[in-house]
Amino acid sequence: MYNFTQYSPTEIVFGRDTQKEAGKLVKKWGGNRVLLVYGGGSVVRSGLLDTIKKELEGQQVSYTELAGVKPNPRLSLAREGVKKAIAFQADMILAVGGGSVIDTAKAVAHGAANPDKDIWDVFWMQKEPVTKSLPVGVVLTIAAAGSETSDSAVLTNEETGRKQGISTDFNRPKFAIMNPELAATLPKYQVACGLVDIMMHTLERYFTPISQGNQMTDEIAEGLLRTVIANGPKAYENPADYDAMSEIMWCGSLSHNGITGLGRPKDFLNHKLGHELGARFDEAHGATLSAVWGSWARYVYKLDVERFARYGEKVWGIREEEKEAAALQAIARTEEFFRSLGMPVCLGQMKIGVQPDSVLRELADSATKGDTVRLGSFKKMNAQDMYEIYKAAN
Ligand code: NZQ
Ligand code: ZN
Repeated sequence: MYNFTQYSPTEIVFGRDTQKEAGKLVKKWGGNRVLLVYGGGSVVRSGLLDTIKKELEGQQVSYTELAGVKPNPRLSLAREGVKKAIAFQADMILAVGGGSVIDTAKAVAHGAANPDKDIWDVFWMQKEPVTKSLPVGVVLTIAAAGSETSDSAVLTNEETGRKQGISTDFNRPKFAIMNPELAATLPKYQVACGLVDIMMHTLERYFTPISQGNQMTDEIAEGLLRTVIANGPKAYENPADYDAMSEIMWCGSLSHNGITGLGRPKDFLNHKLGHELGARFDEAHGATLSAVWGSWARYVYKLDVERFARYGEKVWGIREEEKEAAALQAIARTEEFFRSLGMPVCLGQMKIGVQPDSVLRELADSATKGDTVRLGSFKKMNAQDMYEIYKAAN
C-alpha cells in the first residue's frame, strides 16, 4: 500500500425528511447570510426549495438566490453568482441540486472569498491554489457526481469551449443532506447517467499502474461496484424505490470521496475523454463516460490482464480460467450493463451520433492541449492514443 492522506470532512445527514434539518445545519456551520444555488426548476416544482427557505427563515437565516444552473455548468453563471454573493455579503453558499449546482456553489464560494481574483483565470487555470473559501452546504437531489463529498468542482468555460475541474480540499462541502426520497422525481435517463458516473469514479481508481497489495481498498471498490449493479436497475426502473435509491445515493458519495482509491494513484482518463464530449456537445456527463469506457478498456487491458480478470470475477462473478477471455468478458458485461440502462456505449448511440474523423482529431488535440500533455496513469496517453480511443468508440 502506498502512502496516502484521506480527508473527507463533510458531515453527512442521511435519510427521510432530513431536508428539514437544513436551517439548523446552516447555523451550525456558521451561515447567517446564505446564497441559495439551484438548477433549472426541478427543486421549485418538487417544493423542495420552499421547504429549504422555510427552514432557513425558521432559523433567522437571510438568503438570496442564484437560479438556472445548467448541466455542464457554465462559468458565466458562476461569475454572476460571485457578484451576487459579494453584494449580499453571503457567509455561506447552499447548493440545492446535483453535481452541476454543487460545483457552481463551490466556484462561487471560492470567488466570493477572493473578490480580487477571477475564478477561472486564477483558480481553474491553476495560476494560484485556493487558500480560502466560503463554507458550502449541500441538499442533494441526485445520486451521481459525488460532488457532495468530493474535492473537485467542474465548470465549462463557454467562451473557450473548455470543460475542466479543479481539485482542492476547499471544495469539500461542510455538510450534505442526502434524502433518497428527493431523487424520486428523477427522469430515468438521469438515474442511468448517475449510475454510470458512480461506477466510473471507482473504476477510474481501480485500473491504475498499482494493482497489487491494496486488499482493503480493492474490497471496498468491488463491494461498491456490486452494490451499484444490484440496486441500480431497481432505482432505474423506479426512482421512488427508497431502499434501492438509498444504496445508490450512498455509493455515489463513497465512490468519489477518495475511499475507493486509497493507496494508489488515480487514472481519470475516461473523464478526460468524456469532458471533451461534454464541452463540445453538451451531452450528459454519464453518457459521455459510458460511450468511451469499453473502447478505453479494450485499448489498455493487455497492460494488466490479471486486473481486468479479477474485476470480472469479483464484480461480475465471471468464472473463466483463461485470463484474457475473462478480461474481455468483464469489459463486455460492463457494456451490456450500460446498454440495459439505455446508456450509449459508442458515440453513434449518443445524441450527437457518429462523428467525422476530423472532429475526433480535434477532441484528442483539445484534451491533450495540442499534444503537449500526457493524460491518465494506467497508460499515459498522447493525442494519438486519445484519437484511437475516440475512433474505436465512434
Ligand atoms: O436543473 P434541474 O431542473 O434541477 O434538473 C436537473 C438536471 O437537468 C435534473 N435533476 C436533478 N435532481 C433532480 C432532477 N430532476 C428531477 N428530480 C430531481 N430530484 O438532473 C439534471 C442533471 O443534473 P446535474 O446536476 O447536471 O447532474 P449530476 O449530479 O450528474 O452532475 C453532473 C455534473 O457534475 C460534474 C459533471 O461533469 C457534470 O458537469 N462532475 C462533478 C464532479 C465533482 N464535482 O466531484 C465529479 C464528476 O466526475 C463530474 O465530472
Ligand atoms: Zn464523473
